[in-house]
Amino acid sequence: MANIIGGITTSHIPAIANAMANGLEDTPYWKPFFDGYPPVRDWLNEKKPDVIILFYNDHGLEFFIDKKPTFAIGVADEYHNADEGWGIPTIPPVTGESDLSWHIANSLVEDGFDMTICQEMKVDHGLTVPLNLMWPGHNYGHVKVIPVCINCEQHPMPQPKRTFALGQAIGRAVQSFDDDLKVAVFGTGGMSHQLDGERAGIINREFDLMCLDKLVSDPEDLTKYSNFDLAEIAGAQGVELNMLIAMRGCLIGDVKELHRNYHAPISNTGSGLMLLEHTMPEK
Ligand code: DHB
Ligand code: FE
Repeated sequence: MANIIGGITTSHIPAIANAMANGLEDTPYWKPFFDGYPPVRDWLNEKKPDVIILFYNDHGLEFFIDKKPTFAIGVADEYHNADEGWGIPTIPPVTGESDLSWHIANSLVEDGFDMTICQEMKVDHGLTVPLNLMWPGHNYGHVKVIPVCINCEQHPMPQPKRTFALGQAIGRAVQSFDDDLKVAVFGTGGMSHQLDGERAGIINREFDLMCLDKLVSDPEDLTKYSNFDLAEIAGAQGVELNMLIAMRGCLIGDVKELHRNYHAPISNTGSGLMLLEHTMPEK
């Protein structure tokens, strides 16, 4: 059986790639952020997951606002970066895992989640920045990645209740896959932030910290919020919290927090890094 060994929450902002490309990790601005990552990298290097299921939101590079899947899953063997800006050098492609991807896609549709299934899909900073953070120097080619996109750019967006349920359905789908694969799940983005408008720059540290606590001990409680609540409490782009909620939904067994680093502000965001170890329930 495929086994989910852990879950990780992390920021995905493009400025991180810029800082890494320019060797700024130890500067006063970036150090408190990057200092959080070595324990998570060590854990990944020790546990060596075969596959990462990665929840992120496409920021309009593959799915523009005129055609916006609510939920999309990639089933390709390879994914190319479509991000622009910041002067980032061209980065290597991301390796896919089509067998498990198709298994999850089939299982989700049977389970009532009408996924957009993508045999080709360009990926953006929501996916590539976290991979580079975990395997610096873009050394992520050995790990297979299954991208899962959740719309949080264009209303109507799926509510936290639904994104949590999507995660749970993916957890069950992984459990029903016969091959002995080690899987880790990433939820990228957030936490509180707003990029434009009158409240641009808003960060709600207290709410972010409460969310991190709840992601460990009582994730279902976070499903009481609507996306409008999240926008009000945590800024318009605070709805990226849905990625973290979906990730946590996949952890259908026992969870133990191994590491956490909250730092704000980093660019316009509160950054919540967390590593959760997961023990799969009996089948
Ligand atoms: C920033 C935040 C995001 O979620 C994003 O996708 C891009 C940029 C920022 O705060 O810089
Ligand atoms: Fe984002």
